[in-house]
Amino acid sequence: MVRSGSEGHDRQTERVPAVDPSARSRPTTTGSHATTKFYGRWARLYDLLATWLPGVRDVRRSVAAACGLSAGDTVVELGCGTGSNLDYLSERVGDEGRVIGVDITPEVLALAADRTRDLENVSVVHGDAAQPPLDAAGPDIDAVVATFLVGMLPDPAAAVSTWCDLVGPGGRVVLANATTTDHWSGPVLNRAFRGFVVGSTPPTTQLRYDVDLVAQLETRVAAAHERLHDESRATVDSRHAMGLVRLTGGIVGEPDG
Ligand SMILES: C[S@@+](CC[C@H](N)C(=O)[O-])C[C@H]1O[C@@H](n2cnc3c(N)ncnc32)[C@H](O)[C@@H]1O
Repeated sequence: MVRSGSEGHDRQTERVPAVDPSARSRPTTTGSHATTKFYGRWARLYDLLATWLPGVRDVRRSVAAACGLSAGDTVVELGCGTGSNLDYLSERVGDEGRVIGVDITPEVLALAADRTRDLENVSVVHGDAAQPPLDAAGPDIDAVVATFLVGMLPDPAAAVSTWCDLVGPGGRVVLANATTTDHWSGPVLNRAFRGFVVGSTPPTTQLRYDVDLVAQLETRVAAAHERLHDESRATVDSRHAMGLVRLTGGIVGEPDG
């Protein structure tokens, strides 16, 4: 029924009838070997940062709120990492709802499965966010969430369109991404941000990069958030963590009139 990328999340993946059985053999188009190697190696450190960096819990609460979830809803988190959003989403959809986390790195998924082992409404699945391994015959998906992911996708706007198709008209898509800030302490924060981006972009062993990683990240984030605006009939935008995190939530559909 479901492919599993590591032993650690077998128990939870078995509870997910929404997963496309052909996903096991489907090649990934966007998840590079460097990405899975990097996140596989640093999964535990990433987990600490993703949970405890100043302001990050506010981001996760705001993301869950922006999904506009009700009890019984189904929400999919793409690029769920070690699962830092999953308990917030789980609480919103309640016992009758369902939260499905998807990630391409088996090691981080194993941590996500461990973190949510007591949450009956949460499952995690190995797969590519650009081609989510979810069966069209599965349950309706009310919302899709992607936090700190689109900057890693070569064609983030196309991915956002895929996610909008997945939820359909009236469904919600929520993005949150780090970016430079124009906060009054921006010069200091932006220097730290630049260092963080360079240090956390696989591979980290290179001393000189051919591309400006911050510019590339910002271009991808802007393209994704713009596409979500284009695909939505209503949107909400906010900034968090002293402006370093940009959040956009959209209700998919044609604008009225
Ligand atoms: C910066 S982390 C963010 C994790 C989580 N969303 C959070 O907010 O903490 C990026 C995650 O995206 C995953 N990822 C990168 N490319 C992916 C892809 N094409 N499909 C699925 N997951 C991907 C990585 O394995 C990693 O766990």
